[in-house]
Formats: sequence, C-alpha cells, structure tokens
Amino acid sequence: MIGKRMEEALNAQINEELFSGYLYLSMAAYFHSQGLEGMARWMELQAKEELEHALKIFRHLVERGGRVSLKALEEPQGEWESPLAAFQAAYQHERHITGKIHELVELAQAEKDHAAFQMLQWFVAEQVEEEDQTNKVVELLERVGPDGRGILMIDQRLGARAD
Ligand SMILES: [Fe+2]
Ligand SMILES: [Fe+2]
Repeated sequence: MIGKRMEEALNAQINEELFSGYLYLSMAAYFHSQGLEGMARWMELQAKEELEHALKIFRHLVERGGRVSLKALEEPQGEWESPLAAFQAAYQHERHITGKIHELVELAQAEKDHAAFQMLQWFVAEQVEEEDQTNKVVELLERVGPDGRGILMIDQRLGARAD
C-alpha cells in the first residue's frame, strides 16, 4: 500500500506528464501550421511518449492500492516566434520536469518508499535522454539561424525519427 504523500505527489506528476504531452501536441500543431512536417512528427511522437510516462505512474499507483485522481490540464501555449523558440521552450520544460522527478526521488527516500524509488529511477535516466535530445535540436537550430534551407534540412532529419 502506498502512503498518502507519495500518492498525492505521483498524482501531481501524472498531471505534469499529461501536460507535457499537451504542450508537445500544441507544438506539433504550430509546426504543421508552419509547413514543418518533420518537426511536427517529432513532436507528435514526443507527445505519445509523455502519455506513456503518465501511464507508467498510473499503473504504479493502481498496483500499489493507490487511487489515481486526474486533475484539469492547463491550456498550453499555442504560438512560438520561431522553431528555435519552440524547441528552447521544450528544453526548458524538460528541465522543469527533471526537477519534479528529482523532488519525487527525494520524497521516496524520505518516506522510505523503495518501490516508488525504484520506479522513479527509470524516469531519472529518461530525463537525461530527454534533455539531451531536445537540447541537441536547439543547438542545431542555433547553428543554422534564420536560414530557411538549414531549417528545412533539420525538419527532414527530425521527420526521420522512428516511432
Ligand atoms: Fe515525461
Ligand atoms: Fe519529456
């Protein structure tokens, strides 16, 4: 049986993960509106991953006799001034999520909740990957600057992301 504090904190993280998916779907819609189909596809896949993250926590709560309680999702931003601005926002968002995961790990330690601690280790590693892959796109976009051909090349590369 999971403790009340951990249950509440994991429910809050389900909301964070679902909001992440919502934000990336909003970014995908923005990229579609700009004719950047590769970046849009990349963000759609990212949004799907976030739903899986939410489900991982959902299942952990259920398995441990906890109660999942879903809260309202915030409205995500819908427009960005450039692809670079959108990916910078995605990177900043991933850093925010990493902070949340680390807080959960510390709570699991404080509560001596070894099961939650172990489940969260997967997220610790996942966040390293997520920050890295988002930051790499930021760096590519910074390198090409406003050059349209450069942006299209990056768009093509991101469109090749496997499901
Ligand atoms: Fe996530
Ligand atoms: Fe993420």
